[in-house]
Amino acid sequence: MTLSTDTPAETNAAPQLKLPPLQLGKLTVDTPVVLAPMAGVTNKAFRTLCQEYGGGLYVTEMVTARALVERKPESMRIIDHDDHEKIRSIQIYGVDAVNVGKAIRMVVEEDRADHIDLNFGCPVPKVTKRGGGSALPWKTDLFTAIVQTAVREASRNDIPLTIKMRKGIDEDHLTYLDSAKIARDAGVAAIALHGRTAAQHYAGKADWDSIAQLREAIPDVPILGNGDIFSAEDAVAMVEQTGVDGVVIGRGCQGRPWLFGDLQNAFEGTAERYRPGVTEVADMIYRHAELLVETFADEHRGLREIRKHVAWYFKGYPVGGELRAKMATVPDLATFRELLGQLDHSMGYPGAAVEGPRGRAGTPKVPSLPDGWLDSRILGDTERLGLVEAELDISGG
Ligand SMILES: Cc1cc2nc3c(=O)[nH]c(=O)nc-3n(C[C@H](O)[C@H](O)[C@H](O)COP(=O)(O)O)c2cc1C
Repeated sequence: MTLSTDTPAETNAAPQLKLPPLQLGKLTVDTPVVLAPMAGVTNKAFRTLCQEYGGGLYVTEMVTARALVERKPESMRIIDHDDHEKIRSIQIYGVDAVNVGKAIRMVVEEDRADHIDLNFGCPVPKVTKRGGGSALPWKTDLFTAIVQTAVREASRNDIPLTIKMRKGIDEDHLTYLDSAKIARDAGVAAIALHGRTAAQHYAGKADWDSIAQLREAIPDVPILGNGDIFSAEDAVAMVEQTGVDGVVIGRGCQGRPWLFGDLQNAFEGTAERYRPGVTEVADMIYRHAELLVETFADEHRGLREIRKHVAWYFKGYPVGGELRAKMATVPDLATFRELLGQLDHSMGYPGAAVEGPRGRAGTPKVPSLPDGWLDSRILGDTERLGLVEAELDISGG
């Protein structure tokens, strides 16, 4: 796939805004855009593809502190970067300061990352019901211990440590302002806020006002806004409405690695945008499949991984159900190439059908929490025991 804007369209009406580079401690991120960590998505292959279109910070899938300390092969795979990746950025999830500290010490001593993010946003019930994920910041003593330890360990080699969180558990139990103050005092390099509570999961709209409030409350640390950015125009609107220093993009780039080209263009103040037709999308997804095969060193695994991306890449493109179904079960690269050849390559960019919300949505749910979790903001002994399991078998935020 070419690196240049091979199908750019001049859209003079597109909002533009020049945004300076994002400073994370000693690191300068030229384009103030972050690829949100997404379990099962932001592996080396996808990060590589996105980076071919634009600048920014490209975070790994999250890895649990415990699994990292134990050097589980899958965890070591997750934090591995390609030589071309300018900033090696990883995300760690953990539920106790000791393991998080050990994991970060290992990463720092072995020089395995240039930036470390901590995940406090996971809304998955099996995790929150043990007090992990987005339930954890409610316990301020635990949250403080984890963040302070993480910053201390990362600072041994001047590695910027950031946190990513949600607004809170639900509208009656918001934690983001308290957490941000704790994190600022601990010395984090930036704070990212997904403008939803755990109860919202991915439903409804992200609350950008909360992001603006955070910006106002914490003027002295870079703030990153996350939630419902599906286009460069959304990103510009987020910055204008909230005053954040950078944006974090998750679902909006699923099947659209080229979005990072649009984002770079927007923040450099140009109106150029990618508008890929079927041929470009076919080339992109094939390249993605090749990169997955390389990443997993296994053609079968790589093709299994590409299947979930098919619906994302071709969302809004007029591609028949039968062909989609075949692509979603494609066994090898040769068959994939052949199937992609059957697409109608005369089709250009379909416009609105490709734009707007995509990916995970769902409905709000009452968060599952340990009994009595909300009664105190200090962690009890029984709760501490239960937390151990909040780190097992977790993926995603
Ligand atoms: C498939 C998927 C996996 C995710 N995995 C993680 C993760 O590992 N760590 C994390 O902090 N957030 C994770 N998230 C949350 C995203 O990073 C992001 O905060 C969320 O999708 C909201 O941003 P968006 O509206 O741009 O998608 C995940 C989201 C999705 C859709």
